[in-house]
Amino acid sequence: MAGIHNISILIMEDDISLARLLKKTLKKDSYKIDTVSDGKQGLLALKQKSYDMLLIDQEMPYMKGLDVIRNISSGNSLPPIIMITGKGNENIAVEAMKLGVRDYIIKDKQGMFLKLLPSVIKTVIEQENARKQKRKMEELLHKSEEQYRSLVENLNIGIYRTSTESRSRFIQVNKAIVEIFGYNSPDELKKFPPEHFYYNPDDRKAFISKIKKTGYVKNEELLLKKKDGTPIWCAVTARAHYNKSGNIEWIDGALEDISKRKQLEEMQKRVQKLLLRSAKMEAIGRLAGGVAHEFNNLLTGIIGFSELLSLQAVDNPAIAQNIDKIKKLARKASRIANQLLIFSQGKQAKKTLLNLNNLIKNNKELISHIIGENITLQLLLQPRLHKTVADPELIEQILVNLTVNAAEAMPDGGTLTISTKNVSISENIDDSQHHTRSGNFILLSISDTGLGMSQEVIHRIFEPFFTTKEVGKGMGLGLSATYGIIKQHNGWLDVESEQGKGTNFKIYFPSYTPVTKRHTRKTNINKVSFPSSGKRILLVEDEELVRDIIARTLTDSGYKVFAASDAESAINIFLEQNGAFDLIFSDVVMPGKNGLEMAQELLSHKKELKILFSSGYIDDRSRRKLIEEKGFNFLAKPYSIDDMLKTVKNILTF
Ligand SMILES: Nc1ncnc2c1ncn2[C@@H]1O[C@H](COP(=O)(O)OP(=O)(O)OP(=O)(O)O)[C@@H](O)[C@H]1O
Ligand SMILES: [Mg+2]
Repeated sequence: MAGIHNISILIMEDDISLARLLKKTLKKDSYKIDTVSDGKQGLLALKQKSYDMLLIDQEMPYMKGLDVIRNISSGNSLPPIIMITGKGNENIAVEAMKLGVRDYIIKDKQGMFLKLLPSVIKTVIEQENARKQKRKMEELLHKSEEQYRSLVENLNIGIYRTSTESRSRFIQVNKAIVEIFGYNSPDELKKFPPEHFYYNPDDRKAFISKIKKTGYVKNEELLLKKKDGTPIWCAVTARAHYNKSGNIEWIDGALEDISKRKQLEEMQKRVQKLLLRSAKMEAIGRLAGGVAHEFNNLLTGIIGFSELLSLQAVDNPAIAQNIDKIKKLARKASRIANQLLIFSQGKQAKKTLLNLNNLIKNNKELISHIIGENITLQLLLQPRLHKTVADPELIEQILVNLTVNAAEAMPDGGTLTISTKNVSISENIDDSQHHTRSGNFILLSISDTGLGMSQEVIHRIFEPFFTTKEVGKGMGLGLSATYGIIKQHNGWLDVESEQGKGTNFKIYFPSYTPVTKRHTRKTNINKVSFPSSGKRILLVEDEELVRDIIARTLTDSGYKVFAASDAESAINIFLEQNGAFDLIFSDVVMPGKNGLEMAQELLSHKKELKILFSSGYIDDRSRRKLIEEKGFNFLAKPYSIDDMLKTVKNILTF
């Protein structure tokens, strides 16, 4: 019923002349008028066509106006109806209004009602238009509310409204929030006050006071908890709504479960830290290995020359004594270099199948001696402990280093507990545990009830030369060496420490799993002694001091020695001598061509050539693996003159 024009009206009036008059009057306003002379015809007309308005006379044959209306209103949509009646009757009027008739006009003799009718119709049309408009608005509102509700309900983000009075409650929650917190229904969740959902209930106070300050919070990360108590991280954005007096009436919020993202972030942070730490350790390891290598070369010379001097000073006890002191100091220096080499994994491990419990039991006395009487030793060794493949000497060194540290951390006494245990780490382990991998391991834990360490100290304990001890007391090498040994055994370690309470070092070694066939090639060193005279050795060593001492020692032992300072000159000597050598004794790492490349070339001239390599590095730089694979012999620096001679003799014997 868009406007007044084009509105169709059906008039039901048995008085034909009045009907005509009505039609004439209303046509002026350009209404489209149809007339019928009784109710039956009216109902028929309504079936065929829909009208915007009905004018119905009450007094008609066959059917009264009210009956017609009753009949129509049993159908659904009722157009606005105006009743016209000959005489005023309150009952009819009341009944008509009950049936939804909009207006009620009484035919007066003077025909005033004809003048009134157009304005009555106009008002009814306007009212009807307004009603329709309102209904349309309501429908739109309802629809948009529905859409909004379904949007909110289907979001993965929890939406809520809480009150803020002292006993605050959830006023409204969506489905997502119920799911996030693991409840069965909104009603179940609403039984609990908001603070119930905080992992630490006090955090709610901080949250509210933040909102009170600014009126809102954006992406606030809160540690909340689920129905079953498990913690979840949520990002909450919330806004306060104020009443007229300026107090917060309620808070609307959106809440997103960010636990997964948080977990990922945490893991990334840890990995980053570990990567940084391992990169740092690697750099220090390389540096330490390099220094140790240089030192070993020098010390080999110093020890060798001292030994030669001792021989020359047998008749002069005063000089011999001083030479002895030089030897002792050089050996001490060599031990330090050794610790550094162990840390940088440049010290070769001699691994065998090892029962860690036996090793600990065998060292019980030594350990007791280290810790003294003030400290109680407790051994908790698991029966039927799995074996591990390890170098017993190096493992002993770990035991000693950690025991010494523990004893030093318990100056007033305490308990040192050494325990062993078989542990199985499953596939779905917490990846955050650094270096952890799945499999079967032996856990060696050494714990004390001593001073403990701060976080800053813990972060640095594996660095070579890091010590908190007085000058002269600690070198800061014990744990660096321990770290190197553990890495060399494919294990890892964890440190737990609390200041004032104590420290626990947990070391994991892989359990031994037998393999069907194992190939190991050893340098065959034994005690057999054979005459050496006349054998020809080509010695290749870039360090002058070392070259000199070895050459002299071998010569003194009856060998014919040719010395070269690098691969090129060695090859030249070899060719000059037509390859007449029984042994090539060479350094691996040298400027220019390295020992292996040189060997390759020499072997192409003489297939059966025996080769002994020596190096201060036993990491990748020494090519140790390659050397063993190729069946060459290897002697680690620094070596004693004795060891060197034995090795050379051995090789030449077979
Ligand atoms: N059980 C422990 N309790 C408390 N602090 C310890 C413990 N073990 C090691 N530390 C700390 O770690 C530092 C490094 O230990 P590390 O064994 O490498 O060197 P050091 O004991 O100082 O010297 P060195 O072992 O070379 O004689 C120590 O100085 C000490 O601060
Ligand atoms: Mg120490």
